[in-house]
Amino acid sequence: MLGVCYYPEHWPKSLWQRDAEEMKSLGIEYVRLAEFAWCRLENAEGDYCFDWLDEVIDILHSQHLKVILCTPTATPPKWLIDKHPDILPCDIHTGQTRGFGSRRHCDFSSESFFNAAMKITQVMARRYANHPAVVGWQTDNEIACHDTTLSSSASALTAFRAWCKTKYNTIENLNREWGTIFWSMEYSSFDELELPLMAVTEAHPSHRLAYRRFSSDQVVRFHDSMVKEIKSHCKSHFITHNFIPMVDTQCDNFALAAPLDFASYDNYPLGRTDLFFSSLSSSEFERYMRTGHPDFASYSFDQIRGISASPFWIMEQQPGPVNWGGHNPKPVNGMVKFWSWEAIAHGASTISYFRWRQAAFAQEQMHAGIKRVDNSKSPAWHEIVSFRDELIASGLDLQSPVNASVAIVMDPHNQWVTEIERQGDSYVHQQVEFEYYSALRQLGLDVDFISQSSDLTPYKLIVAPCLPMVSQDFIDVCEKSDAHIIFGPRSGSKTYEFWLAPTLSPGKIQQLIDIQISSTETVRPDCVQPLEFGGVELECSRWLEYIDILSNSGVTVLARYVSSDANNHTAIVQNNKCTYIGCLMQTDSLIAVLSGVLESQDIDYQILPRDIRLSRRDGKLFCFNYNADSVSLQIDELENKTVTVGPRQVVIVDGV
Ligand code: GAL
Repeated sequence: MLGVCYYPEHWPKSLWQRDAEEMKSLGIEYVRLAEFAWCRLENAEGDYCFDWLDEVIDILHSQHLKVILCTPTATPPKWLIDKHPDILPCDIHTGQTRGFGSRRHCDFSSESFFNAAMKITQVMARRYANHPAVVGWQTDNEIACHDTTLSSSASALTAFRAWCKTKYNTIENLNREWGTIFWSMEYSSFDELELPLMAVTEAHPSHRLAYRRFSSDQVVRFHDSMVKEIKSHCKSHFITHNFIPMVDTQCDNFALAAPLDFASYDNYPLGRTDLFFSSLSSSEFERYMRTGHPDFASYSFDQIRGISASPFWIMEQQPGPVNWGGHNPKPVNGMVKFWSWEAIAHGASTISYFRWRQAAFAQEQMHAGIKRVDNSKSPAWHEIVSFRDELIASGLDLQSPVNASVAIVMDPHNQWVTEIERQGDSYVHQQVEFEYYSALRQLGLDVDFISQSSDLTPYKLIVAPCLPMVSQDFIDVCEKSDAHIIFGPRSGSKTYEFWLAPTLSPGKIQQLIDIQISSTETVRPDCVQPLEFGGVELECSRWLEYIDILSNSGVTVLARYVSSDANNHTAIVQNNKCTYIGCLMQTDSLIAVLSGVLESQDIDYQILPRDIRLSRRDGKLFCFNYNADSVSLQIDELENKTVTVGPRQVVIVDGV
């Protein structure tokens, strides 16, 4: 199914009817409206103006288009900010108030903002609860983007003190749980607590983690209330949210998604590739400059599938160059269609494009749309037509699940732990997680993302690339599960309050494998260290742990550090339950180790050509070719059938 993001408030009324007719002719089913239109919906406090929106919705309805309404709370209007300046968030690095003049200028701890946001939500939800064209809601827009989860405002401080009081009950508990005696930081009441910002040097990690947890809870509280408000009026409408990755929201996306009917994702592969891969050499980068990296869009699709109660949506699909990357290349011909298919293969049911017509003015005027400002069709139009026809012809069941037998455990708290304590500048949570994901994808596997509390029964292999804080429940479930578990370095090394594990790393994981990390070092990424694995030399760097085996309880050594300084110390171990990898490896080395583990567990895999990826859904195998040349490959699971995939094409084969 197809959708589009539409901003009728940016265009003369005279275009609305024609827009709706053209949307229909393109095969659009859903039109998303109003996420930035607060100032036009409420001109002054309580002075609502819905006539224009009613008119647009009626026009769309006349073309049998379905409407998704958004709460406009990402853009509080000027009159509201002037009346309640406490709505503005404060920068955590400088303490300065962040100003009006763009969007997301709102503090999740401001009660004035909370009340105003819930009020406009209520008014809209009541008004459109029974409109026959309106079928669903998007809450807010990319909640917490532009670094707005954390704020150094007075409202945040007040709310943080209250949150700590609820959590720790007494200040003595807090002092003890955090260990504030270090550097004489003991508090005698909750009113003395500050936010862990702008200290002379590093602030206390337990304090910082508490502030991260609190800040995420504030966003979740805001979002939960909004969902509740919409639900109480619009009983038959679905509610979704257009997420950005957890590393960007700095929030618990699992918790945010919990009350939603499904999750949506905004897919901007070129903008994201530009930002994430900025350190690649120019020849490496150019390879993916106009296609996006083969694993980077799907890395997010699989994460969003992991937080979604049913098939997810792409709420915003990049249709051409964006305006917000360091540089903003033009997708190669066919890429918009390719990305649309890729999202479908990874479990999406609907692809909605951002935006209908390129904006003629303001911040995003250099961002492509499906139509140009003179109303001509951009290349994306023709790709969407082709995608629509192929999708219909495929007969794919868009409600069908993706059945992966490998899962990666993702966890916001652990993301925050590694951001707070780097120990090595080159330990980057997202990089570490992505390297595991990409390696598994290059091994031809479908990958789910799960939380520590997910059901493990569907999986043969669980991979935890970065889990310093493991819950006892997770370890107990792992112990009972039939799956093999791979833990990456740092796993189990911390307690819930950010202390070192009392039995040394990997702490609670010792219940699964009897080992101890006797020392840890971090080294520059270019200071590559040799590793001996099954008779071949591999490479590691960045994070190295020296493992001791505690008893002869079936633990075998898979790899050792073999530099002259390392004394053949153990780097990777395995028993019949899990594999513990004590270092970060270069991609080829990681693939070698993972394929060894897959073989030991009798899990089928196929090492794919560099730019080919496979996905499976609804009995079909999707072969994606990111390369500029045709690629032919024999596919193991199709009894070695040869499949040829044209450049930047997808081939769909039945029968898996
Ligand atoms: C998204 C955002 C849209 C628009 C778009 C531009 O992140 O939700 O409103 O700004 O980026 O690429």
